[in-house]
Amino acid sequence: MSNAFDRHRRLRRTPAMRDLVRETHLNKEDLIYPLFVLEESGQRNEVSSMPGVYQVSLDRLTEEMKEIKALGIQAVLLFGLPKEKDEVGTQAYDNEGVIQQATRLIKQEYPEILVVADTCLCEYTSHGHCGVIHDGYVDNDASLPLHVQTAVSQAQAGADIIAPSNMMDGFVKEIREGLDEAGFENIPIMSYAVKYASAFYGPFREAADSTPQFGDRKTYQMDPANRIEALREADTDVEEGADFLIVKPALSYLDIVREVKDRYTLPVVAYNVSGEYSLIKAAAQNGWVDEKAIVMEKITSMKRAGADLIITYFAKDIAQWLSES
Ligand code: PBG
Repeated sequence: MSNAFDRHRRLRRTPAMRDLVRETHLNKEDLIYPLFVLEESGQRNEVSSMPGVYQVSLDRLTEEMKEIKALGIQAVLLFGLPKEKDEVGTQAYDNEGVIQQATRLIKQEYPEILVVADTCLCEYTSHGHCGVIHDGYVDNDASLPLHVQTAVSQAQAGADIIAPSNMMDGFVKEIREGLDEAGFENIPIMSYAVKYASAFYGPFREAADSTPQFGDRKTYQMDPANRIEALREADTDVEEGADFLIVKPALSYLDIVREVKDRYTLPVVAYNVSGEYSLIKAAAQNGWVDEKAIVMEKITSMKRAGADLIITYFAKDIAQWLSES
C-alpha cells in the first residue's frame, strides 16, 4: 500500500523516541541567576511580588552562594541595594559599594562561579533613573562617564562580565574603552542591546528598589511596537564591541530573539524578566497551572527562539528539576 500521507507520529510514539529527536535541550550552563544584594546586614527578605526571590544581605550571601553552587548554577547577575542613594548614584561606582563588596566576596569563596555585574545607576540614584538628570531629562553624555566608572570599579572588584543595562547611546563604546584603559581588555561586555520600556519590569522595581520617582524610562528604553529599531540598537552594540547581546524582556519578544540570533554571530541572551516570573508564580500558587511544566516549556521556547543563555529567576528551580530528570 502506498503512503497516502506522512506519518509524523512515528517519531513521537515513545518517550525514548521523542528524546532521540528532540531539537532543543536546556542545560544548567545556560542559566544565569539574578541576585539582589542588600548592604544592610542581617537580612533575607522575600520580595512580595516575586515569591521565592529574596533580597540577601552581604553577610548572608555566603549561604545563598552555597545553595547556588550545590544546584550547579554557574553564573549570577548582581544587583545592589545600597544604604544610601544620591542624585548621581555615587554608590554604583564606589569601590566599597555593595556590588563591589559582593563581587569580592563571591570571587573569594566561589572563584569558579561567574559574576556578571549589572552596570546601571537606577538602584543608586535618589530619582531612580538610569543616568543623571538635567532639566528633568536623563542626560546621555553626562551619564556615560559614571557608567564607565561603575564598570571599571566592578571589574576591579573581580567581576567576570560587565552587563550594562542603562540604554544610554554610546555606552558599549565608552565602557569598552574605559575597561581597556584600566587594563581589563579581557573582560567581556554583555550588553542589553535590545531593551524595551516594558511593564514586565514592575516586580523588579520592588526587588531592586529602583522605581523612577518621576516620569518613566521611555526616553531611553525602546518602544515595544518596534522591530527595526531593535536591529539598529544591536548593530551599534556589535560595532562598538559587545561580546554578548541581551534581548529583554524575553517572552513577548521571541520574534526579536530569533532575528538577533539569525543576524549576528554573538551569543544571544534572553532576559526572562520579573513580570514574566510573577505571572507564572501567581497562577501556580492558585493551582491554575502546573508550574514545572509551564516553566520548562517557556524556557525551552526561549532557547528554541535562538537564546544561547537565559537570565531567569527560575534558575534554581530549573537546575533542581534538571538534576531530578
Ligand atoms: C536596570 C534594570 C531593570 C531590570 C534589569 N536591570 C529595570 C528597569 O529597567 O526598569 C529589569 C529586570 C526584571 O524586570 O527582571 N536598568
